[in-house]
Amino acid sequence: MNTLNTTIAQDTSVKADTDAPRAESKPLAGKVEEGVTVGTPFADDAKFKLRNVDVFYGDNRAIKDISLDIARNEVIAFIGPSGCGKSTFLRCLNRMNDSIDSCRVTGSLQLDDVDIYDPKRDVVELRARVGMVFQKPNPFPKSIYENVAYGPRIHGLANRKAELDEIVENSLRKAGLWDEVKDRLDATATGMSGGQQQRLCIARAIAVSPEVVLMDEPCSALDPIATAKVEELIAELSESYTIVIVTHSMQQAARVSHRTAYFHLGNLVEVNETSKVFTSPDHELTESYITGRFG
Ligand SMILES: Nc1ncnc2c1ncn2[C@@H]1O[C@H](COP(=O)(O)OP(=O)(O)O)[C@@H](O)[C@H]1O
Ligand SMILES: [Mg+2]
Repeated sequence: MNTLNTTIAQDTSVKADTDAPRAESKPLAGKVEEGVTVGTPFADDAKFKLRNVDVFYGDNRAIKDISLDIARNEVIAFIGPSGCGKSTFLRCLNRMNDSIDSCRVTGSLQLDDVDIYDPKRDVVELRARVGMVFQKPNPFPKSIYENVAYGPRIHGLANRKAELDEIVENSLRKAGLWDEVKDRLDATATGMSGGQQQRLCIARAIAVSPEVVLMDEPCSALDPIATAKVEELIAELSESYTIVIVTHSMQQAARVSHRTAYFHLGNLVEVNETSKVFTSPDHELTESYITGRFG
């Protein structure tokens, strides 16, 4: 992957102010320059091209001049302390923020070189192409079958019952759930375990053949075994989809992603290959976070 580098990490101007008092246990006072991301935020084969993005909730500027490419078929992890804007930025990618009245998005956001925020854009179609899986599994209070069949039906992807059956089966297979549920497709989804519910939500997201799947802390409500299953699934899905995952778990980011993006107070501080972020990050703030000095 060819990338453009913006490297300021070695520049002394971004190092801590040594005159400032610094308690030993405190985070390093690494500075971040707005609109400047160290590492490799840009990619050759960009699925998303995001430039100078700001997001406001009323007067609160939650995202500050972020520019980033998300490459086709990569898994990119968004990490950073709570409240730094990971979910806000993720939601821009399929206009989930539209439903928040106070929210305003500026800058250029393109999916396959077409403006995501074009007022003429069909948002329902956008969300079919860019699906989403949330923190808490949220199946509809309907049968397992209906949960998966709903999207393909409203998007007119199946003309006959047999076609719909096939989409449901394939989606459940891809989500690693088919063998567990094939004999009880009519059972209500809310009776499943949390891990099964989350895999069902993934099956529901992929049933409409999206190109991108956004996941906002998809495992934070799951036990370790269910988490391992979902992580395995992400690895499999990454062969066919572009995946953006917000995670609180650095181990998870390290296990599932190709690149990792570190957010801090609305800024995108660093983007690099995941192995680099976790072994030799370019920015002091990233290092502070991954070594557990704050977060
Ligand atoms: N619906 C909302 N309305 C107003 N402010 C919000 C809303 N969602 C998030 N924010 C604010 O935006 C900032 C970033 O939040 P968020 O994107 O949720 O961060 P993260 O996902 O990294 O924890 C925070 O200051 C938060 O309070
Ligand atoms: Mg969040």
